[in-house]
Amino acid sequence: MKNKIISDIASLLNVDKDLVKIEYPKDRTFGDYAIPCFQFSKELHKSPIEIANYLKENLNYESNVVNGYLNIFMNKVETTKSVISTILAEKDDYGNNSYGAGKNIVIEYSSPNVAKPFGMGHLRSTVIGQALNNISKKCGYNVTSINYLGDYGTQFGKLIYAYKKWGNEDALNESPLDELKRVYVKFHEEAEKDPSLDDEGRMWFKKLEENDEEALKYWKYFKEVSIKEFQKTYDLLNINKFDSYEGESYYKDKMDPVIDELESKNLLKISEGATIVELDGIVPALIKRSDGASLYITRDIAALLDRKKRYNFDEILYVVGNEQSLHFEQVKQIINKLGYDFSENVKHIGFGMLLLNGKKMSTRHGKSVILKDVLDESIDLAKKYILEKNPNIDNINEVSKKIGVGAVIFNDLKNYRINDIEFNLEDTLRFEGNTGPYLQYTYARINSLLSNKQNIDFTYDNIDIDENKWNLIWSLAKYEETIITAKENNDPSIIAKYLLDLAADFNKFYAHERIVDDNVNYAEFKLSLCEAVAIVIKNGLGLLNIDVIKQM
Ligand code: ARG
Repeated sequence: MKNKIISDIASLLNVDKDLVKIEYPKDRTFGDYAIPCFQFSKELHKSPIEIANYLKENLNYESNVVNGYLNIFMNKVETTKSVISTILAEKDDYGNNSYGAGKNIVIEYSSPNVAKPFGMGHLRSTVIGQALNNISKKCGYNVTSINYLGDYGTQFGKLIYAYKKWGNEDALNESPLDELKRVYVKFHEEAEKDPSLDDEGRMWFKKLEENDEEALKYWKYFKEVSIKEFQKTYDLLNINKFDSYEGESYYKDKMDPVIDELESKNLLKISEGATIVELDGIVPALIKRSDGASLYITRDIAALLDRKKRYNFDEILYVVGNEQSLHFEQVKQIINKLGYDFSENVKHIGFGMLLLNGKKMSTRHGKSVILKDVLDESIDLAKKYILEKNPNIDNINEVSKKIGVGAVIFNDLKNYRINDIEFNLEDTLRFEGNTGPYLQYTYARINSLLSNKQNIDFTYDNIDIDENKWNLIWSLAKYEETIITAKENNDPSIIAKYLLDLAADFNKFYAHERIVDDNVNYAEFKLSLCEAVAIVIKNGLGLLNIDVIKQM
């Protein structure tokens, strides 16, 4: 529809399509679309009001002129017919579009560190990344998802030494990440007293870099037990798989060619024994340490060049916290300096921190809060709340899992990702307010209404599309462009906010309307509208990787 309006106006005024902008009036009673006419003045030598009036006279839409705007009103019945029938026919496919058709996108997200607990910090990367993956697929992109495991680096030398010296195999089998953390912390405590331990750590990392059998054996073991633990968290989050799990270690033998390439383009400098690349306006990048050990950024450059070759991406997203902004600036500048032309398609999708204020959030494992513990706690609390509401509910475990996990995900995704967010389990789980459970509850309520639907044909004769209904229908109509905007901004909160608005529109409609009307035709129309809303809530929550519940 929007495209049709744009081309109608462009051809009528004989201007470029790009000049025609369509907005939504702030006050919905002003119109369904608003076309600002200021930008045509210069070319057409007329005032915005004259142009708006000219459009009003000559376009085939109901419209009026307010200041320099042309406000357009859609034909309510025609639009309603087409929106409802499209949604009921397309269901889960509603909103599918071709914005990214024919394009390859690589999305790197989650990327926890082996031998460290999967902390709340990695939650954000995981849920934002998974949502962007779902949204991109919905836009027709060919998506490759990568979990770039933090499975390499000098810390593994320390860990091998520490485990050999203080590790306990039973404890490792019992609770691997706790045991690895314990010995790692111990290493740092001891190294304060005896700095020679750092040399031991360096030596073991060197052995690992040289593929020493014993070093490799420990490293592989640590990685294996870690991945097993991570999988439990992915299962809870409904994340089945990544297309690639190639982590940092995959690039251990692929850094030398990168260093050679940097050398051949005269980009390397030696500074205090270390090898660096000087950059414009930002601090130099450290490519190789003075002891020869390889570094995080060097692996990232190797990985980026390798991914470009392998996946021939049009765009690559790195879903990583704001604190690594400088790192990705450095990576991009180095790619540029090497003479590649794709650095503007390399996007750091940064996000803020998760701040914990609830006293209930215990930190059993030292400072970092473990994601799985939080999810488990959220599921328990959800169970308690649901049983208070409905003690006889079927499959309480499944329902509380979907609500508890959905609440944590939604709380994360409803905020613009760059901002820091407060985490408070009780707020997150409220059934009223801007929460996941509120949307799931709205869905379940609609679903129970739908038992009254007879699934018969209905007509639009004598159907009154009042303001509440129209607002709801117009929101449904905007779903596809909302998805595209979310992708353009790589920001899932656009979907989350859309769903909250949709639910608010629904609840306003519902509060003023007897859905199950004596007039069978009218009732069937209203129930079809309800069904369309339910379909879009399910569809949209699905993009955020949140499940709906039919009954709760
Ligand atoms: N494992 C890293 C960390 O936890 C995140 C990896 C980010 N991705 C990258 N390509 N550097 O900090």
